[in-house]
Amino acid sequence: MSNVAVIGAQWGDEGKGKIIDWLANRAEMVVRFQGGNNAGHTIVVGDKTYKLSLLPSGVIQGKRSIIGNGVVVDPWALLEEIARVGAAGLRVTPDTLVLAENAVLVLPIHRELDEVRESSNSVQRLGTTKRGIGPAYEDKVGRRALRVVDLKDPASLPAKIDRLLAHHNALRRGSGAEEIDAGALLEALKEIAPKILPYIGSSWRELDAARRAGKRILFEGAQAVLLDIDHGTYPYVTSSNTVAGQAAAGSGIGPRQIGYVLGITKSYTTRVGEGPFPTEQLNDIGEKLGARGNEFGTVTGRKRRCGWFDSVLVRQTTITGGIDGIALTKLDILDAFETIEVCVGYQLDDKVLDYLPADANEQARLTPVYETMDGWNSSTRGARSWAQLPANAIKYVRRIEELIGAPVALLSTSPDRDDTITVRDPFVG
Ligand code: IMP
Repeated sequence: MSNVAVIGAQWGDEGKGKIIDWLANRAEMVVRFQGGNNAGHTIVVGDKTYKLSLLPSGVIQGKRSIIGNGVVVDPWALLEEIARVGAAGLRVTPDTLVLAENAVLVLPIHRELDEVRESSNSVQRLGTTKRGIGPAYEDKVGRRALRVVDLKDPASLPAKIDRLLAHHNALRRGSGAEEIDAGALLEALKEIAPKILPYIGSSWRELDAARRAGKRILFEGAQAVLLDIDHGTYPYVTSSNTVAGQAAAGSGIGPRQIGYVLGITKSYTTRVGEGPFPTEQLNDIGEKLGARGNEFGTVTGRKRRCGWFDSVLVRQTTITGGIDGIALTKLDILDAFETIEVCVGYQLDDKVLDYLPADANEQARLTPVYETMDGWNSSTRGARSWAQLPANAIKYVRRIEELIGAPVALLSTSPDRDDTITVRDPFVG
């Protein structure tokens, strides 16, 4: 079995972009299966840096790239991104990009609603990316969303828009907001439809054909398991399932077609937005990790919160995410620490836990139990073999494997595609 799913094992921003690009090189098809343009994948190829949000990373190498049914698609953002990467020399055409006809559309009303809820005095503030992702998924499960396929038939749009606005305008009337004008939305959709239509296709049929032809398929996760709507730190999560199981549901392929699940984790921990973070360092250590790791969000530019590696969380996401092996990234950020702490459990009252309790009140009362390891105080940046790593760095990696219960398949030592130590090529096994 040669298909691989890549998912984040922490709260996102683990360096998935680089690893996905590295794997996309080996794949023949690349598929996004959840999220939307809340994702931000930074990919460095030689002297060029690409920032992708909605486009699968396969577009960089001109691989057939699928935006699956599990993704919520802002068609304006998609066209803007295609134009932006086009200006940087990447041609995205209907030959390289297929947009699932049964994917849900993110509309201006969703973006606006996300913004309003996130306004500083709102009780619903979660620290979202304000891209309308949550409101779009709400309409999807509410069975009133507009889908990509609806753009094909403008005559059917007014009735679908009325159904959608019956819900939204009732809410808006209740909160004193101006109602959405159905006519203006219809015109906007009619205007964009001909630009989107050339990309529309069937994700499940594309994947079935690729599978039958024995092609290697890469499933590209966005966000991460601790932001999963079921398994994450609810309610401070995104609105989709980010676990590997979603790769199947969000693209239209059976779960047994995914042969290997690679989880990406940083050598320390970061998080953007609100929510619990047991090993967060609100001190010089956190500042140092942030400065050395250049921890600012790709999509929103927000400063990321930083802390030590939390093996309890990654052990848990290895289990819930279905992770077979991990790619450990940004080891070089720890090059300048005398000692390094690793969280190995949580003290909760008189008990020590080896998992994150689901109850937010309990999460807030956890005290991390740390194990202290010696640092290596020398550069690991750019290392391409184990022999180039200091002994203490190897010890650190081995201890992480032991604690999380999964082997390191790849070790990334700089943003450059080639600065990677391969223990196991996930496609080859
Ligand atoms: P939303 O996905 O915009 O609804 O945001 C919900 C939560 O997920 C917020 O804490 C965001 O900061 C976080 N989030 C969404 N996308 C990403 C990502 O690609 N990387 C890291 N965090 C993300």
